Amino acid sequence: MTYKNVTVAGSGILGYQIAFQAAFHGFNVSVYDINDEVLEKAKAKFQLMCKAFRKDLKVTQEQLDMAFDNLSYTSDLAEAVKDADLMIEAIPEIPDIKIEFYEMTVISVTTNSSTIPSVTCT
Ligand SMILES: NC(=O)c1ccc[n+]([C@@H]2O[C@H](COP(=O)([O-])OP(=O)(O)OC[C@H]3O[C@@H](n4cnc5c(N)ncnc54)[C@H](O)[C@@H]3O)[C@@H](O)[C@H]2O)c1
Repeated sequence: MTYKNVTVAGSGILGYQIAFQAAFHGFNVSVYDINDEVLEKAKAKFQLMCKAFRKDLKVTQEQLDMAFDNLSYTSDLAEAVKDADLMIEAIPEIPDIKIEFYEMTVISVTTNSSTIPSVTCT
């Protein structure tokens, strides 16, 4: 499977950096957080990252523009994950928040396949 669309849940200390790095490297990134106010803060942090990328990595404005074009923002979880190939979770290290989030997002899959799992396991 080729990953193209990445959802980053949580745009705090870790999440905004992961989101920007992924967008810079060509992934379509949906940044998801609890409300628009927090997402606005993430946008401001992306601008700060740009400065660091320019200074330390000598990247071009064209590369940065591409990264911003790859970023979208939403506080709607269904919208955030609708096209996702991969979700990277970066929400607070608080058990109740993590449990609630995973209960809302993760599905379990079982297979009745007779041969493929055993073939791949040998
Ligand atoms: N900060 C670090 O240096 C560091 C290092 C290694 C691992 N981690 C881990 O990374 C994860 C994130 O840590 P952080 O420091 O970036 O946290 P943070 O508190 O800086 O950011 C968390 C973000 O998640 C958002 N959030 C809260 N509830 C949410 C929900 N239900 N759905 C979506 N977003 C929600 C918050 O609004 C915030 O923007 C944690 O599991 C932490 O243990 C952090």
